[in-house]
Amino acid sequence: MHRAVVLISGTGRNLQAIIDAIAARRLALDLRLVLADRPAAGLARAEAAGVATSLLRPGGRDRAAYGRQLADVLDAEVPDLVVLAGFLRILDSAFVQHYSGRIVNIHPSLLPRHRGLDTHRRALAAGDARHGATVHFVTTELDAGPALIQGSLAVASNDTPQRLADRVMERVETRIYPQALSWLAEGRADWHQGRARLDGQTLKEPEHVDCDSS
Ligand code: GRF
Repeated sequence: MHRAVVLISGTGRNLQAIIDAIAARRLALDLRLVLADRPAAGLARAEAAGVATSLLRPGGRDRAAYGRQLADVLDAEVPDLVVLAGFLRILDSAFVQHYSGRIVNIHPSLLPRHRGLDTHRRALAAGDARHGATVHFVTTELDAGPALIQGSLAVASNDTPQRLADRVMERVETRIYPQALSWLAEGRADWHQGRARLDGQTLKEPEHVDCDSS
């Protein structure tokens, strides 16, 4: 079974979806460790599920030094997958290259639209008809690695940034992250020559899930 570590900074709703999918046997992943860079509320979710946790604050270290220490902690678990789930820290290129092809992230927008922060407000300001989230391999370019899956929903006339964020989390993120991880865990998805591959086919576009009704 694939060994995974999950990195969080926040409430850990994506982490919870992963834990729930494992418990429901929809996802065959050996979750070795949940690590946070701050005293994240999501750590309690890992503890409640009996998963080991670690808190590794950057302290005074620069990005590269923190990346080295982080890799030391993670490598002790010999991970097949490094799963970023709301980890609010930019990882240095040596760290990313060390885990090349086995590090994934979820970003709350339909990439390549709205890289970076504040995606829900920006989607509303741009008048986007649809919005959602993307699971992608992490590369040294921020929010730009090859995408595996996107889920989208129609933006509603009464959406505020918060309401839209909540809907994307509930309907899209908690659905597509366990899905993408199960493909990776089953060996259906992988990283091949810098591209995302599913069932042996290089993906020109990520798989898409319509999450309007769930
Ligand atoms: C999610 O919106 C995720 O897409 C983004 O950060 C948020 C994390 O939320 N990268 P949570 O900690 O999973 O609740």
